[in-house]
Amino acid sequence: MLKTLVLSCKALKFPSAKIQGSRQLKCKATRMELTLVQPDDWHLHLREGELLQAVVYHSANHFGRAIVMPNLKPPVTTTAAAVAYGESILKAVPAGSSFNPLMTLYLTDTTSPDEIKLARRSGVIFAVKLYPAGATTNSQDGVTDLFGKCLPVLEEMVEQNMPLLVHGEVTDPNVDVFDHEKVFIDTVLRPLTQKLPKLKVVMEHITTMDAVRFVESCEEGFVAATVTPQHLLLNRNALFQGGLQPHNYCLPVLKREIHRQAIVSAVTSGSKRFFLGTDSAPHEKRRKECPCGCAGIYNAPVALSLYAKVFEEAGALDKLEAFTSLNGPDFYGLPRNSSKIKLVKTSWKVPDSYSFSFGNIIPMFAGETLEWQASSL
Ligand code: DOR
Ligand code: ZN
Repeated sequence: MLKTLVLSCKALKFPSAKIQGSRQLKCKATRMELTLVQPDDWHLHLREGELLQAVVYHSANHFGRAIVMPNLKPPVTTTAAAVAYGESILKAVPAGSSFNPLMTLYLTDTTSPDEIKLARRSGVIFAVKLYPAGATTNSQDGVTDLFGKCLPVLEEMVEQNMPLLVHGEVTDPNVDVFDHEKVFIDTVLRPLTQKLPKLKVVMEHITTMDAVRFVESCEEGFVAATVTPQHLLLNRNALFQGGLQPHNYCLPVLKREIHRQAIVSAVTSGSKRFFLGTDSAPHEKRRKECPCGCAGIYNAPVALSLYAKVFEEAGALDKLEAFTSLNGPDFYGLPRNSSKIKLVKTSWKVPDSYSFSFGNIIPMFAGETLEWQASSL
């Protein structure tokens, strides 16, 4: 594993270059660089239409594959719809890119076991996503009766070795929003893994020490978790720093600092149970900066820089590649990527916004300077 990780100080000789119009790459004589197996993004929102056209470049630029979330309007509930959605993504990918979208089905109370068989046979669907009805963006068609109506489907997923990807929050309005994840683990996830111990489960975008402990308590290879840059770098203070910060609002919502620290310890420990999933979730600026603004952070352009920052600050850069590039494919039973990517330690400024004909998208850490920059080899 370590053979593929080159951590070295090298004199890189390249001229001052304009990157994507606005970011100036400044050369210094000596730079630290990392060469990693190309990462995959195991949790991504690519949207559709003009939004898809606008954002797919940022993911295709850095990641080999991505698990694509199905929470469109209407949601992607059938194999036929997932296949068509995958084709539209491939059409939007820049020429020359080998980015491969790994499609998912949106689980509902009426999904049939036959749909799971079809999905497996399609060769392009790699997981089924559980949204508790009402938990987040476009989840209104989600599940209301997991242990009842959905049980035959879950049993078929065990047969087909099809992972269940879980948005792990309860929707009970009487439960405090900061406890949604913990209560979901106690009332749904732990009972589910006890009932179906051979079901592969990914707890998506974990936000608490409770989730870390839960995942670590399960059998390795059957339960894992994705982790976002925002839940590694921000705590809930970031929602209110200097006024309301809609661009730091996502679901599950950011938690206390002790939870952030527990997640950082987990991912930098080298455990195989945790892997990269950005949950990059673009919304137009005017849909974030408004009454009742949408949940979702657009981090695709900065995600790799931010993960490198987290691992560097934890003194664990030697564990970065397993998290970004190895643990995910190993869990899904897919080959690791054969291509490589380079991360160079060089300052760059995150654009204040990305402008498109339909409006602007504000990225995570907009306008800030980051220290690691990714490029394909
Ligand atoms: O913040 C989020 N945004 N969390 C989700 O679960 C959904 C996502 C979106 O689709 O915008
Ligand atoms: Zn998501």
